[in-house]
Amino acid sequence: MRIAVLNGPNLNLLGQREPEVYGRTSLNEIESMVREAARPMGAEIQWFQTNHEGALVEAVQGLQDRADGALINAAAFTHSSLALRDALLAVRIPFVELHLSNIFAREPERRHSVIADLAVGMVTGFGAQSYVLALQALVGRLRAA
Ligand code: DQA
Repeated sequence: MRIAVLNGPNLNLLGQREPEVYGRTSLNEIESMVREAARPMGAEIQWFQTNHEGALVEAVQGLQDRADGALINAAAFTHSSLALRDALLAVRIPFVELHLSNIFAREPERRHSVIADLAVGMVTGFGAQSYVLALQALVGRLRAA
């Protein structure tokens, strides 16, 4: 089973960036956690991070036939990017939306996601652990399908 993990803008700064909101775990450490959790599940991880909206759109377009499902933390693009939404509508890959922080407990502009209704489900608010929980949820869903 091939799982793509797509990370949006500023997530490369995790660990140093607003640690009181996002925690002290770096994105590299989260990648290691996800790869380790994926191994016993027999899942192969394709890891990607970008600060650019177009690159994220192209990464979604590239998922067709390359991944069975995706974990997506679109970061700030979650709240604004119709281009990302359109790419997910075009590709129609099963994905779990995830966030480190609980977006519903934050500023009003972060409480809306333009991709949430397209997702299998959402994991939000568990810090770095959100990635592992989202992986478990997605693999479980794909196995059941
Ligand atoms: C985030 C939440 C977003 O609102 C924010 O722009 C991020 C990270 C999260 O993981 O909590 O960059 O997606």
